[in-house]
Parts: sequence; C-alpha cells; structure tokens
Amino acid sequence: MTQVTNEKVAFPSVANKTISELISLENRVIVVTGAARGIGQAIVRRLHEAGAAIVAVDRKTEQLEATVAELPESKARIVAVTADVSQSTQAEMVAERAMREFGKLDVWVNDAGLLPIRAAFEVTDEEWQRIIDTNLTGTFYGCRAAGRLMKDQGGGVIINIASSLAFHGVSEQPHYVASKWGVRGLTAALASEWGKYGIRVVAVGPGLTDTPGVEANMTDLNRMQGGDARNATAKFYPAGRMGEPDDIARMVLVLASDLAAFVTGAEILVDGGEVYSSPAG
Ligand SMILES: NC(=O)c1ccc[n+]([C@@H]2O[C@H](COP(=O)([O-])OP(=O)(O)OC[C@H]3O[C@@H](n4cnc5c(N)ncnc54)[C@H](O)[C@@H]3O)[C@@H](O)[C@H]2O)c1
Repeated sequence: MTQVTNEKVAFPSVANKTISELISLENRVIVVTGAARGIGQAIVRRLHEAGAAIVAVDRKTEQLEATVAELPESKARIVAVTADVSQSTQAEMVAERAMREFGKLDVWVNDAGLLPIRAAFEVTDEEWQRIIDTNLTGTFYGCRAAGRLMKDQGGGVIINIASSLAFHGVSEQPHYVASKWGVRGLTAALASEWGKYGIRVVAVGPGLTDTPGVEANMTDLNRMQGGDARNATAKFYPAGRMGEPDDIARMVLVLASDLAAFVTGAEILVDGGEVYSSPAG
C-alpha cells in the first residue's frame, strides 16, 4: 500500500488513528446556529456528548437558554449567544465570542433557517428577501466568519445544513428551494477555495424531519399531501418513517469528526431515501 506522507498535505491522513480517537470531539470548539430547537438542538446535544465545547447560537434567547439548561452534566463547556445570522456583524460577533471564551474555533455548523410554505405568485418581495437573507446569505456570513479564523489556525470544518430540496423541487416553496440549492453551490465553491487552508466545507441534506418548524407548517403540508403528511411521507420513503432531528445530528457528528477527514465539497443526504428512491418502488 502506498504510504500517504502528511508533510504539507491539506487534509492529513488519519489512517493510523483508532476509531475512538477518530470519533472523539474532545477539546474541539464548535459553533452551532439555530441551536434553540429542532435539528440545531439535536446537533448541540450530540456534539456536546462527544466532548466538544459549544457556542450555541439562536435569535430566540429564552428557548436557547432552556436548551442549554437541559443538557446533561459534562466537563465540556457550553455558552449561549443570542444572534441573528442574517446580519454579518452578528456572525463576526459570534466568531469573536468563540475565540474569547475558548481561544480557538474547530467546527462551525450553519443550521439556522426559515421553512416557509407559499405559492410562488403569493411570495412578496419582502418574504423572498427574508428567506434568502437567512438561509443563504446567513450561511455565507457564517462560513466567512469561520473561514477567516480557520485559515489563520491552519484548518477546520464548516457544515451547512442544506436540504433534500437542494436536489429537486417541490411546489409552494420557491424561495426555500432556491436558497437551499444556493447553499449546496456555496458549499462546493468554498470547499474548492479553502481546501488549501485545511478547511473542509460540507453540506447535509435532511429530508422531511419532524421539528417545531415543520410542525408549524403541518396544516399546509397535509393540504398539499391530500391527507396526513406524516403518513404519506412514511409510505413514500424507503425508510418507512419521517426523519427525526437526531438522524441529522448523528451525520453532523460524523462529518465534524476525523472519521470524515477526506470529505469536502459534498452534500450528504440524510433523507431516508427520498431523493434517490423511485415512487414506483
Ligand atoms: N425539518 C425539516 O424537514 C428540514 C428538512 C431539510 C432541511 N432543514 C433545515 O434544517 C435547519 C433547521 O430546521 P428545523 O426544522 O430544525 O427548524 P426549526 O424552525 O424547528 O428551528 C430553526 C431554528 O433556527 C432559528 N433561526 C431562524 N432564523 C434565525 C436567524 N436569522 N438567526 C438565528 N437563528 C435563527 C430559530 O429561532 C429556530 O430555533 C434549517 O436550515 C432547515 O432549512 C429542515
């Protein structure tokens, strides 16, 4: 077997590490946005359990503090920071806070997002802009704030929560679908540009996942599915059920860790088979 020499390699070989060394996030410092509920909350729980120090970010202070207070006792510290990711100055503030609290930044997870349902003709200019500002521009601001620090430090990992809807389209979510195709493209572009700095940039594509954000849309989803959207999804997915937040969090854990040391630029689907399965069965 050819030996990989780690001298001046952007992503050094980890082939000599044990599995427990590869999966561990001990001493890593990780920012997670959208951390107050849903998928972001599940990500915080898993990464904290794996030993990481966490900067948990959300615009909803009370819910965020409740999420942090509910975490099991651990040696790993966690701080809650209220911020709106669609404001570039606030992304920079979060990066500075991570440095002030922990002295470094290893991983940044861009999860914060809005999930609207609106027929294209009904989408106002304001609503279009609000969704793009949060889901796409906010993700770029997070990547840029993280990337600057990671470049100076000699590497890091950025994980963008995109969607299965970055692979196909659906009705009544034109702004959402466009924003998520944008996040997938942004991920590939930054992975190309920043690989030389030792920065991996990856995206995760959840399928329909049971979260408060989806629950808020259930009346519309039921109307669009002509019945119970949860059951319809369960029948349609090879997995036989809708996703739950922890399904997504476990993949984020893998991608944040050295298990994924050779993964960059890709969007990894965590969709119970939604995108690549055939309705014909
Ligand atoms: N649930 C799904 O079916 C699904 C599927 C694919 C992708 N996603 C993506 O996963 C991510 C999380 O979705 P979820 O279902 O957990 O949503 P959710 O609504 O349950 O939680 C989203 C969190 O993000 C926060 N947030 C929203 N805008 C923010 C802003 N500007 N600044 C800071 N925080 C902000 C909210 O306060 C909330 O706590 C989103 O990016 C979403 O697009 C979700």
